[in-house]
Order: sequence, then C-alpha cells, then structure tokens
Amino acid sequence: MKTVDRKLKQIRDKTIDCRKCPLYRTRTLPVVGQGNHAAKIIFVGEAPGQNEDKTGRPFCGQAGGVLDELLASIGQPRESVYIGNILKCRPPQNRNPLENEIEACAPYLEEQIEAIRPKIIAALGNYAAVFILKKYGLEDKIEGISKIHGKVFEAAAPFGGIKIIPLYHPAVAVYNANMKETLKKDFLIIKNFLNNEK
Ligand code: URA
Repeated sequence: MKTVDRKLKQIRDKTIDCRKCPLYRTRTLPVVGQGNHAAKIIFVGEAPGQNEDKTGRPFCGQAGGVLDELLASIGQPRESVYIGNILKCRPPQNRNPLENEIEACAPYLEEQIEAIRPKIIAALGNYAAVFILKKYGLEDKIEGISKIHGKVFEAAAPFGGIKIIPLYHPAVAVYNANMKETLKKDFLIIKNFLNNEK
C-alpha cells in the first residue's frame, strides 16, 4: 500500500472511532473525505449536512450538485480532486461549527492535507477560508468571503509551496444564478493553475 493510502486509511479509522467532541453522539456517519489521493487540489468545506450524514460522503446533496457542476465546467471530474470538511460530523440542525469542535476535529483535516500534499487548497465558504488562512499564517489576509473570493494567496506548507483560493460556498448558488456565475468565474482560476501544473 502506498504511504498516502496508508495515512489516509489511518485517519479514516481514527475518525470513525472519534469521541473527541460531542458531535459523535448525534451524527449518523462521519464524513471523512473522498477523492483522489494524488489530487493537486483539495476542496475544504465546513461540515456535513443531512445528506452527507446519511451517506458518509462529502457534498452529496444540493450543494454537492453545484460543486459537481462547477468541477465539470473546468473539465474536472469529482474523482480527480479531493473533497474534505473541517468537521467530520454533522452539527445538529446544521448549526455553525463551535470553536471546541473545530479544535477537536481540524487535526484530521490537517493530517489529510499533509498526506495528500496538494498544490492548491480551495476553501469553500467563510469558515473554511478563515481556518485555512489562519493555519498557514495568513491571518492578516482574512476578510469577508465577498472580499476575498477568487483571490490567490501563496503560503508555505511543510511539504512545499501552496496556493490558497477562498471561494463562495456552493450552497449559496443552489438558488442563485448570479452566485453560480461568480463561482464559475472563480473556478477558471483553478483551471488555469491546474493546467500549468501539468
Ligand atoms: N456543506 C459542506 O460544507 N460540506 C459538505 O460536505 C456538505 C455541505
């Protein structure tokens, strides 16, 4: 088994048994993450919703449909990227993540990022953008997602240089065609970088 596969399996096993915060009591399945272990890009969402909680798969509801459409618009099948979340367990009624939950759960995402060693981290929505910018020492770049979506921030990860691209959360485009257009434009930036990485 390749190192990355072994590491991701270890993270999966730990997540399934996790009792580090109370969310394990109310969730159905943890949503560990899914996709290509050699992905050049990781998409980071906030937390599983109802559909994800039932299936254990990230972004499999309406927001996931939008994400698939956005990926298709730049010629990327879902299988070519990796999709994860800050929280692996669903907060009841989809409430916002709490600080203690992020603190308990985020190390799993951090380990996933370090195992996959992506070139790009695309942060979906405000929570993910704040978390990822902070993680890579870019606190001073944090602004509302309406200000920083589609911008590209360079950071130094332990495994090399990465680009961080904050994006609107796909859920905002479920019923809003303008937002989908904005997201599509921002995805073109990703397309460019992926083409240059080939
Ligand atoms: N929203 C998220 O942030 N993550 C999911 O997995 C689904 C919806």
